[in-house]
Amino acid sequence: MTTTETKIILNKDILRITKDSDVVPYRNRVKEYAVKIGMSLVNQTKLITGASELVRNMLKYGGGGEARIEVITQGRNTGIRLVFTDQGPGIPDIKRAMTDGFSTGKSMGLGLPGTKRLMNEFDIQSEPGVGTTVTVVKWKNG
Ligand SMILES: Nc1ncnc2c1ncn2[C@@H]1O[C@H](COP(=O)(O)OP(=O)(O)OP(=O)(O)O)[C@@H](O)[C@H]1O
Ligand SMILES: [Mg+2]
Repeated sequence: MTTTETKIILNKDILRITKDSDVVPYRNRVKEYAVKIGMSLVNQTKLITGASELVRNMLKYGGGGEARIEVITQGRNTGIRLVFTDQGPGIPDIKRAMTDGFSTGKSMGLGLPGTKRLMNEFDIQSEPGVGTTVTVVKWKNG
């Protein structure tokens, strides 16, 4: 369902991600917010799985950055928006990066396309030499 209603931020939290040991506390924080808004267990799992993929990409390819967690509402929906911002090398071909199996890191190449499938909304903005911002939304239910 699409709606033109504005998203309203009820709460936000920003974590700096610079090293591997920042990942678990970040995941735990995402989980806390998901539990706090009463997100369904299935959606919690999808959200946390996607959050892990994106935070690992930000560390591995973006050299670390900032992970924002927001509680948002839009109409009668409540959910979590995650924003990952890095000042790394950027992604030269986003369409290619979104293809199953494409990896420059000798990995599975499933992180981005898989995460898109797990979320309700998914957006990547990237400029070579400037950095990358990935934004995802998972609603509480549905
Ligand atoms: N924040 C980022 N900055 C620069 N490049 C990125 C970033 N995130 C992803 N990429 C590029 O997009 C490619 C695809 O990412 P994706 O997460 O789908 O796969 P992967 O990380 O290579 O493998 P997997 O996630 O399955 O372990 C990466 O190999 C990398 O080239
Ligand atoms: Mg990945």
